[in-house]
Amino acid sequence: MQYPEKTPDRVTVLGFGIMGAQISQLVAASGIRVSAFDLSEDLLSRGLDLIKNGKYGLESSVSKSRITRGAADEILSRISTTTSLENALDHAQFVLEAAVENLPVKMKIFRNATRLAEPSAVLATNTSTLSISQIGAALEPKGRSRLAGMHFFNPPQLMKLVEVVKTKQTSEDTISSINALASRLGKTPVVVKDYPGFVANRIGISVFAEASKLLEKGVAGVRDIDVTMRLGYGYPMGPFELGDLVGLDARLRNMKALYDQTKDPRFRPPKLLRKLVRQGYLGDPKSKPGSLGGYYEYFNLQRPSER
Ligand code: 3HC
Repeated sequence: MQYPEKTPDRVTVLGFGIMGAQISQLVAASGIRVSAFDLSEDLLSRGLDLIKNGKYGLESSVSKSRITRGAADEILSRISTTTSLENALDHAQFVLEAAVENLPVKMKIFRNATRLAEPSAVLATNTSTLSISQIGAALEPKGRSRLAGMHFFNPPQLMKLVEVVKTKQTSEDTISSINALASRLGKTPVVVKDYPGFVANRIGISVFAEASKLLEKGVAGVRDIDVTMRLGYGYPMGPFELGDLVGLDARLRNMKALYDQTKDPRFRPPKLLRKLVRQGYLGDPKSKPGSLGGYYEYFNLQRPSER
């Protein structure tokens, strides 16, 4: 198969959590090698376990005959993991950061990336709500021109969108390299400006915030709100089931980041969300290992998708 010229033959993935690991699987499945970095062997082995045994992982694909055992082994063999940032970034042409949603952490990662990767490397961040321009403030102007958002959606193996986020400094070359990689991964890239929440989360989190208000006011319960949006608007999942899938800690971080950037009361994190996260309800245990559950476990309800 002919691929766009601009796609790299190796992608360095910095951060091997739920998104970083699943994106690595996707990249490796497209025939591209992956060098994945995280801080400890334990985090790396958890990421590899998700790739092998997760709901959208390789074992499930083999058991459903979507791919052969040989193909699954090849995909896995394209992923190498390391706790050494120097090794991960050695000769890196395309850096995709999927670390924790924390501005100083991401700034530090990209400062290191400009020091250790190829001088022409694309610097892409999978941040969902942090400002790309603020992340880029850590870099020299040349580094800023190579930085853009490459925002995947959970589960990245299935969701077809990649939101490509450009700042005033991002070069056209950077955007076309990211678009080319997204296309090779079978995604549709949509280029948007750096703006709080970009497009997808600005709208998606507004829906979740509004649903939370209705829940708080007692207008309807979690399941009925979700069923309403599924059946009334054709959403594949309602706002609470989706919150449980992406993680309630992630939702809380997203809302805090949006609120910090906009001071818009709409994005002030709902009380119940804060309480759930404080108590260890971090989302659906199937996608968030170690979590006590999400909205559905807290209210002891059955998810519409589990009917
Ligand atoms: N590659 C390709 N296909 C795969 C696969 C893989 N690795 N793993 C599983 N599949 C297949 C399954 O076998 C199944 O196909 P089949 O029915 O033919 O067997 C199909 O993909 C889907 O599997 P599911 O059983 O899970 O199917 P559902 O129909 O329940 O769909 C869903 C699941 C795609 C998650 C759907 O419910 C959905 O679209 N939900 C909404 C998700 C969403 O909105 N995500 C965005 C969240 S926001 C975000 O991420 C932003 C961030 O910044 C917070």
